Amino acid sequence: MSQVVRTPRVFSGIQPSGGLTLGNYLGAMKRFVDMQDEGIETIYCMVDLHAITVWQDPDKLRHATRELCAGYIASGLDPEKSILFNQSQVAEHTQMAWIFNCVARMGWMQRMTQFKDKAGKNAQNASLGLFGYPALMAADILVYHTTRVPVGEDQKQHLELTRDIAAKFNHDYGVDFFPITEPVIEGAATRVMSLRDGSKKMSKSDPSDMSRINLTDDADTIAKKIRKAKTDPEPLPSEVEGLAERPEARNLINIYAALNEQSVEQVMADVGGRAFSEFKPMLAELAVAKMSPISGEMARLMQDTAEIDRILTSGAARARTIAAPILKQTYEIVGMVGA
Ligand code: AMP
Ligand code: TRP
Repeated sequence: MSQVVRTPRVFSGIQPSGGLTLGNYLGAMKRFVDMQDEGIETIYCMVDLHAITVWQDPDKLRHATRELCAGYIASGLDPEKSILFNQSQVAEHTQMAWIFNCVARMGWMQRMTQFKDKAGKNAQNASLGLFGYPALMAADILVYHTTRVPVGEDQKQHLELTRDIAAKFNHDYGVDFFPITEPVIEGAATRVMSLRDGSKKMSKSDPSDMSRINLTDDADTIAKKIRKAKTDPEPLPSEVEGLAERPEARNLINIYAALNEQSVEQVMADVGGRAFSEFKPMLAELAVAKMSPISGEMARLMQDTAEIDRILTSGAARARTIAAPILKQTYEIVGMVGA
């Protein structure tokens, strides 16, 4: 049995399939920055191959990939410290995904709730890629021997599948080769909800733009969306238990806590007893202060797409130096003849 020394390594990805939301920022990007600044090796990907599991207009895909890179940098990722690249440029991801297609079982894939949600009623008409998507995601992670993956709550099931694939591979080939990756789903905003409906996830695909804050929204738009966010008639409670049946109130408190880097308990101690008419302006001011510099910086970075492309190319080259030897060893374990 080959024993592997596990260097701590972080990998995560976001799909360039439209705009970025406050949910992406608080559930994922802000955490990416925290981990970069902990001094661990960090690799952050724009998962363009995942995006095309649902048809994408090529020009929009190009734009969204660059804009996502700008969003990463504007949120605080430093292309010198973190490896930033787009997935399609490191072919080892898809090569590893094929191996994992042969490890993952049909029954495991059929349980994936994201597939069921995205395929909707007409699953027969969904792409094969959409069904196989979680095996590619496992490849993204394991081709770097990643030990930690920061994501929002909605990705938990995919990370469990990644662990199952790693364990089955190790078991089937009698090796201790792939690490059992740790999901990092932490903080007050692992599931940011729609501003119009506290039972629905904030999503870039929601038809109502008022349901979300986009990373490209300016200060006035952010403040307006918060002012108009759905609430209930009661004042805010001072204890967390008081939020149990109040999804909209809970969502706004969670957003406040995450933006202000406080615990939910701390926020509730400060704002308990206040009416929404008092709390919403506080939240709007905080959201504008934290978010509008990001949209400004994204717009500035998007004026020089050649520089973004250079960052992506150099990131892909760095990523490949880690992925290529791991893929090569995988091929050897599996029994592929080659130099
Ligand atoms: P996606 O935009 O679906 O590629 O998601 C990219 C990352 O953002 C993943 O880690 C998701 O879990 C996270 N994410 C997306 N929407 C939300 C949300 N509403 N709340 C928290 N995290 C989210
Ligand atoms: N599936 C993730 C999402 O929809 C994106 C993703 C692809 C990802 N590969 C990944 C996230 C690897 C973390 C690690 O949000």
